Amino acid sequence: MTASKAFHPPTRILMGPGPSNVEERVLRAMSAQVVGYFDPSLLEAMGEIHRLLNATFETENRATFPVSGTGTSGMEAALINLIEPGEKVLIGYNGFFGDRMHQIVERCGGVPIRIEEEWGKPIRPEQVQEALKKDTGIKIVALVHAETSTGVLQPLEDLREIVDRYGALLLVDAVTSLAAHPVGVDQHGIDVCYAATQKALNAPPGLAPVTFSERAIEKTRNRRRKVQSYYLDIALFEQYWGTNRFYHHTPPVSLYYALLEALRIVEEEGLEARFERHRLNHLALIAGLEAMGLEMLVEPPYRLWTLNTVKVPEGVDEATIRGRLLQEFGIDIGGGLGTLKGRVWRVGLMGMNSTPNNVLLFLTALERILLSEGVPCGPGIAAADEIYRKPFQGGSRV
Ligand SMILES: Cc1ncc(COP(=O)(O)O)c(C=O)c1O
Repeated sequence: MTASKAFHPPTRILMGPGPSNVEERVLRAMSAQVVGYFDPSLLEAMGEIHRLLNATFETENRATFPVSGTGTSGMEAALINLIEPGEKVLIGYNGFFGDRMHQIVERCGGVPIRIEEEWGKPIRPEQVQEALKKDTGIKIVALVHAETSTGVLQPLEDLREIVDRYGALLLVDAVTSLAAHPVGVDQHGIDVCYAATQKALNAPPGLAPVTFSERAIEKTRNRRRKVQSYYLDIALFEQYWGTNRFYHHTPPVSLYYALLEALRIVEEEGLEARFERHRLNHLALIAGLEAMGLEMLVEPPYRLWTLNTVKVPEGVDEATIRGRLLQEFGIDIGGGLGTLKGRVWRVGLMGMNSTPNNVLLFLTALERILLSEGVPCGPGIAAADEIYRKPFQGGSRV
């Protein structure tokens, strides 16, 4: 019998839709010895995770904690706790993840109603207003703040006022925006928001931070029947995270260490500085790509800073270019999903991956590969560099 070989993953620059690279400090924090789930040291760390998550979500919610599982577990926890069979949920469908919400709503016996918009465009507040007016009795409006499949940022302004007129709750997916774009849970009156640790937080995949407003918690308390999932029942989760300290499931302790360290890094940098860094690197990347003659999918006001969707030039096999970026430069970017398959590249700049180094290396690598494949393109570096050279104006550049 031959012994199995140890696995040594290659070093990659993760510039795709996620996961992004993990901070060294986070990796070190994770390697600490595991403690029991009632150990006073862990309970103290959980208190700090709660404080730092609230700061990052920009909320004062009491019910904020990381659900065990990836972003989809956050999505599932958010939806299944709120929805009871027969309840109508309005879902923004302008990308891949709106469809995932639709499927979860159906599975818990809810009635999904879609607001459809072209992939690459945001949902307009008027569309939400019209849909709520047309179909009475909608209990929840669910939107994706950062649609990773298209690179679209969903504006959140004005939505609270609209949903209030119809007595609905506002649910927002912030998987690809938390810790990179302002989410402003309290400012925008978001009732339920969830994210994931493997994007702009630079921790490994495996936890989904969620936050519930008092209004949302009230709805879960008044349920006619129990949530169908024991594991994702927020009321049970709260018993462990709250003062009861009731055992619910064994928490992924090492991932809690990781999340705490990742959140400490966010706090040290400061949210505003972090947002500005993401904005600047995104602008430099776009300037470089456009100078090369490439086009972006999304109009400027709605472009995510974390995920840039670049149209694949006519006649170019996008997978070949992606494969060469990985093989020759160790740069991992994403291809298109769903209706955008084969039509776009998805270039992520999330958390520690949002740096001038990565922007400049990526532009150089892409230019080199495109030219060698016979695809005409101009130089992008000078245009990107110009963004970095612009002086600060009134606290922000450009
Ligand atoms: C916007 C959005 N929502 C939900 C998810 C699901 O997260 P996960 O793949 O971590 O389960 C993703 C994953 O990329 C995402 O980008």
